[in-house]
Amino acid sequence: MGAALAQAAPGPQSPPKAPDGERKAEPNASHPSPADQPGATTHPVIRTQSDAFYRPTIHFSPESGFMNDPNGLIYNNGVFHLYYQFDPFAPYAGHVHWGHAISSDMLAWEDQPIALNETPDGEAFTGCAVLDTHNSSGLFAEGKGGLIALYTRATPKKQSQFLAISEDDGKSFRDIPHNPVLDIGSNSFRDPKVFFHIPTGQWVMVVAKARLHQIAFYASIDLQHWVHLSNFGPSGLFGVDYECPNLIEIPIEGGGSRWVLFISVNPGSPTGGSITQYFVGSFDGSHFIPDDTVIGLTDFAKDAYALQVYENMPGHEAVSIAWLGNWQYCQELPTQSWRGCMTLPRLMILRHDSAGWLRLAQSPRGLDTLREATVPFACKRLAAGASASVQLPLGAALELVLSATVDQMNPNLPLGDKGRTGRFVIVFGNDTGESLTIGFDAFSGQLWIDRADLNGFKQPFFTGQFSTTLNPDDRHFDIRLVLDACTLEVFANGGLSVGTALLFPANPLTYLKLEATGAGASIDTLELYRLRKTMARQSAL
Ligand code: FRU
Repeated sequence: MGAALAQAAPGPQSPPKAPDGERKAEPNASHPSPADQPGATTHPVIRTQSDAFYRPTIHFSPESGFMNDPNGLIYNNGVFHLYYQFDPFAPYAGHVHWGHAISSDMLAWEDQPIALNETPDGEAFTGCAVLDTHNSSGLFAEGKGGLIALYTRATPKKQSQFLAISEDDGKSFRDIPHNPVLDIGSNSFRDPKVFFHIPTGQWVMVVAKARLHQIAFYASIDLQHWVHLSNFGPSGLFGVDYECPNLIEIPIEGGGSRWVLFISVNPGSPTGGSITQYFVGSFDGSHFIPDDTVIGLTDFAKDAYALQVYENMPGHEAVSIAWLGNWQYCQELPTQSWRGCMTLPRLMILRHDSAGWLRLAQSPRGLDTLREATVPFACKRLAAGASASVQLPLGAALELVLSATVDQMNPNLPLGDKGRTGRFVIVFGNDTGESLTIGFDAFSGQLWIDRADLNGFKQPFFTGQFSTTLNPDDRHFDIRLVLDACTLEVFANGGLSVGTALLFPANPLTYLKLEATGAGASIDTLELYRLRKTMARQSAL
């Protein structure tokens, strides 16, 4: 018996049958796309009132068609580029091109022509852009450099890594003739992210062996020939596919830095569907070694996926954008002509939390510049059971900055309404009975988002409530949130807890109410801003 157990225990390192070689012919079975089905072609663009009503005013969304992952995020010559996974023909995933927008501040985006097309070699799946300043690729004219895209061409049978160069500052990319530059004969090998690793003087690629739940590391000196270095994983969440890996060195508040490996997993999130997990560790140019066995999640809700970090940032800022969506319902959202939006750009740092653990903290980058008008709302103190409210300007994106301390309760009382519980609730509501709440439970030090009482979209996976822990034994909380049409981004605890959620109220949310339930609360900070519209799209504003 003992011997049998001992023999059985070690188990194979990887599944005995390579799953990616034997799957049915779908490149991405975890989110099948209607547009990939035989017979499906384009879809007439139908515009509805919902398209304008749910259209964000400061978040990027495509004018029409379907958008998912951010791609090729790079800064060059004063311009931030945002490429994205784009089906220009229909509000469904499929026929993937690279859409393109540019900005000087990552908030006001200007549409550009499609930068990469679907070709007979396949769809243009997720990838990155790098600046080949010194023409290490040898692909530019002598003495010239430029932008290069490395990305996945996907067919049902194969996913391999392609290289395309741009000779017009990123407006368009041209595949080089001898593609693919990296092909391992797999149909589940995708989403390369490349950066120049200064200490070893080489380009490094992280790329997902999706169904094997592994991230592979490759090196190159010319971006065209790639040598395998190592693999990482399976680690952390298992899920179905590992996608969109990113690796970046992030400063620690107070000094020092660590490398952070982001891996998007879909489906398989604890909150359902898509999620991005991260590991903090070291990287020596060939191996990523996590500091511990802990995984972090970039979000406590479920609508931030496929995070990508900006390349070539001035001052080495660590900035990311994620797709504000989830594969569980993104093709069924109640807009008709467009689907998909991006998160705000987020500045990332590492910070020690109250218990001393090193964690990712995120904050919206440059948002202060959009504060257009203060919405007057003064409230310093709420007695137990009391509330204060204000009418909201309609159609505009709003930012709320709030910190409060809930009164101490007698620890000998029972839990419940008349006991130790004290909650501080932020309500965005309307007189048809719809409400969105963000609440703090001071007894347990936890925060929730509740979108269940909004009536514009119901679907089994479009779950209502999400929660996160803040600091144990701390009755104080701080929050910064942005509400913009169908999007909510909550940055709590100095950005250590971030919740991103799509929202579909059936009617406009007309008031903001603050409530203290169970215990009184003192409000330390309360600022409400209307934010300047940056996106020239038809919206409620
Ligand atoms: C992630 C993803 C990537 C893939 C792309 C296809 O959301 O599945 O793995 O490259 O979307 O659009």
